[in-house]
Amino acid sequence: MPRPILALIHTEALAHNLARARASAAGARVWAVVKANAYGHGIERAFEGLRGADGFALLDLAEAERVRALGWRGPILLLEGCFEPRDLELCSRLGLWHAVHCSEQIDWLAAHKTQVPHRVFLKMNSGMNRLGFKPAAYRSAYARLDALPQVDEISLMTHFSDADGPRGVAHQVAAFEAVTQDLPGERSLSNSAGLLRHPLKNDWVRAGIVSYGSAPDFPDNDATHWGLQPAMSLRSRLLATQQLQAGDTVGYGSSFTADGPLRIGIVACGYADGYPRHAGTGTPVLVDGVRTRTVGRVSMDMLAVDLSPVPSAGPGSEVTLWGRSAAGALLPIDEVAHAAGTIGYELMCAVAPRVPVGVDAAA
Ligand SMILES: Cc1ncc(COP(=O)(O)O)c(C=O)c1O
Repeated sequence: MPRPILALIHTEALAHNLARARASAAGARVWAVVKANAYGHGIERAFEGLRGADGFALLDLAEAERVRALGWRGPILLLEGCFEPRDLELCSRLGLWHAVHCSEQIDWLAAHKTQVPHRVFLKMNSGMNRLGFKPAAYRSAYARLDALPQVDEISLMTHFSDADGPRGVAHQVAAFEAVTQDLPGERSLSNSAGLLRHPLKNDWVRAGIVSYGSAPDFPDNDATHWGLQPAMSLRSRLLATQQLQAGDTVGYGSSFTADGPLRIGIVACGYADGYPRHAGTGTPVLVDGVRTRTVGRVSMDMLAVDLSPVPSAGPGSEVTLWGRSAAGALLPIDEVAHAAGTIGYELMCAVAPRVPVGVDAAA
């Protein structure tokens, strides 16, 4: 029998979350962002739930090929554009739209031989200081692209650093607007936090984490507040139980000491499965759908849970590390991530290759 751990991808939840993003997008078209193998869900597994999107946005050319191989004929956007000149050949062949964020990418386009002019998204660095042309350089980049026979249509794009937090987006929107006001072309500004928290004029929004059912601004708001459903459940089972007495310790480093009699369960899930090792005692977990807490350090293949609230549990009992239990009890990935000092994005992307993945078409 295989180890009992399983990540389950919920097709209906993906479709629901995408519809939720669309409802907040004020008429804009919606990119389903499927970079990082659909945020760890698997492009092929997530595709059915996300096929209602207007396009797919991603990074790797290999991922773009996988989306085309699924039969998708609509728009695909390379969010970071090409990494080397020959990537343009695949863009021509597969009809990929691509970001242009630096002058080298314009040089490559100018030298590219193609019968098919490309749709490009010219990226402005409006304050994130990651990729893109500074506002002062943006219009000359636009003019260069506009003069190229290799370029068909130019869209305008920027990315927010603080859409989920107190600084907000106004300073970046102002920088973007000041330079682009009179330029033709469609606009794409908002990511998940942007589209949920800041009503803005977009022609295309980029719906990443919202599609997967995690709140981009947790703990300010949770997934329920935004009407999102978990698209992934990580489930396992108890391998064993232990009865502790006062003074007994649990796991490596003896970081947890029982202050009285305590029954614990040992779960088949550890950091080698992608569960965060930094999730200390008290991280929420469901056993047979009942909320309890982890105790002691997470080890490579196992972790321990307090069975006080669920005395009927024993070897074989279902454990939900995040997502939904089989009976529908909910444990938001954001709560687990928060307990481990990280974000839902990281946990879903980090589920290890050794974890079997299934698809639950019925949510
Ligand atoms: C350029 C760009 N657009 C959109 C997204 C999607 O962001 P989110 O998952 O927060 O919606 C990302 C993710 O980092 C990104 O880099």
